[in-house]
Amino acid sequence: MKWPGASQGQGIERLSIPLRNTDDRYGLISQLFHWLIVALIIFQYTWAWRIDNAEGFRIRLELVTQHKTIGMVVLLLAVLRLAWRLFNRPPDLPAGMPRWERLAAGLSHAVLYGLIFAVPLTGWLYSSAAGLGEYWWGPVSIPGLIETSERLEDVFGLIHQALAISLGLLAIIHVLAALRHHFLKHDDVLRRMLPIWRGK
Ligand code: HEM
Repeated sequence: MKWPGASQGQGIERLSIPLRNTDDRYGLISQLFHWLIVALIIFQYTWAWRIDNAEGFRIRLELVTQHKTIGMVVLLLAVLRLAWRLFNRPPDLPAGMPRWERLAAGLSHAVLYGLIFAVPLTGWLYSSAAGLGEYWWGPVSIPGLIETSERLEDVFGLIHQALAISLGLLAIIHVLAALRHHFLKHDDVLRRMLPIWRGK
């Protein structure tokens, strides 16, 4: 694909990006999934903070509904992203990368994927136990997953919060690892997840 405006000279080569992953970089679809989910997750933390600090039932309920809607979008994107990944091998890690780093990268990516599913799912269970599970999302009715129960509301509330904090902490480590690759190891690991750079 050619980006608009990338019409002169070397710019075309530098800005062209395939839809599918190649052996040495992520394609446009994987990148869109990655950055869209990152943006929505940041939105979700902001909304969780606003819910905690909101005064008044109505405004809280409105914020919770928005938080749930975006959570459902994250869950849907997570399913599509995982499906896309199953048929789209990610690029190879840089040659010469030590075994422990390969293992750490594989494990942390797997746990990040798990958390992208687990956080919205536990939020859905939490909201169902609180009696707010069933709601309309445009023309779509989202059902509650379990019966209303104060005990389960507390349990899933705690699990949802703990998993969200774990996701945040792991994402920080993940970002630091990406920056280490870029600024200290000077390899292509960060660049290949960005749409604008090609090569060095
Ligand atoms: C909530 C925040 C984030 C989550 C949940 C997340 C999740 C993930 C996951 C699951 C992968 C593996 C993709 C795959 O192979 O299918 C990945 C790759 C990657 N992420 Fe993130 N990410 C987050 C934020 C960031 C940020 C802010 C950066 C940039 C500083 C970043 C840089 C990268 C890079 C460079 C890769 C590719 C690593 C490689 O080539 O092996 N991520 N991310």
